[in-house]
Amino acid sequence: MPDRKGLVAGNWKMNMRRADGIALAHAIAERAKEPHACELLVCPPATLIAAVGEALAGSGVALGGQDCHAAPAGAFTGCISAEMLKDAGCSHVIVGHSERRHTCGETDTDVRAKTLAAWRAGLVAIVCVGETRLEREAGGALAVVAAQLAGSLPDGATADKLVLAYEPVWAIGTGLTPTTADIAEMHAAIRARIPAGTRILYGGSVNPKNAAEILAHGEVDGALIGGASLKVEDFWAIGQACG
Ligand code: PGA
Repeated sequence: MPDRKGLVAGNWKMNMRRADGIALAHAIAERAKEPHACELLVCPPATLIAAVGEALAGSGVALGGQDCHAAPAGAFTGCISAEMLKDAGCSHVIVGHSERRHTCGETDTDVRAKTLAAWRAGLVAIVCVGETRLEREAGGALAVVAAQLAGSLPDGATADKLVLAYEPVWAIGTGLTPTTADIAEMHAAIRARIPAGTRILYGGSVNPKNAAEILAHGEVDGALIGGASLKVEDFWAIGQACG
């Protein structure tokens, strides 16, 4: 991955209560004292951002949100703005995760607005794209992702404020993964549509067993990890496989 430092990001999703989350964050911070070639990022649920941030302080492990609202503030019950994430210590935010696209009905237009919000607040936006199983089986994966990119990415993207995450919907939480060749093909297609130097993560059932092969490919700049990010040894092993 020339000129693109590896990034391994843990998306805790709607998991972890206070004691478990703080313990995991301390364990990650402890591990991160050991040599590692990649950047590490943890995205806890909103309730734990402040506490996890305290536990990670000084470790070099970055803190991120899992979503943000497009507006900076206002009457949006239950929502969190990018400015609030920044204020809570975040440097990154995931936008357009398929669980939000599919269960919350988020559109490319929403994802685009959230990406702009992230940049407005000074956060790096991790923009997620990926096809469903039916779309891949129909031979439409590349076209679907190209359309998501066209709709989700605002003008003005630069490599320092944007990370792409290719996450095939059918691979998330299923134990299934595309072949490394399929991942590389998709990453190359994405790379042709984003600024030079922008990192592209692969996400979807990454675990300590498959990480080395996936992350060894020059097209893959890191991983966005769900389930395996909830165990320090798995998260660390994937981090060690990167870069
Ligand atoms: P998974 O989730 O690693 O549990 O498949 C990945 C993701 O949703 O980012």
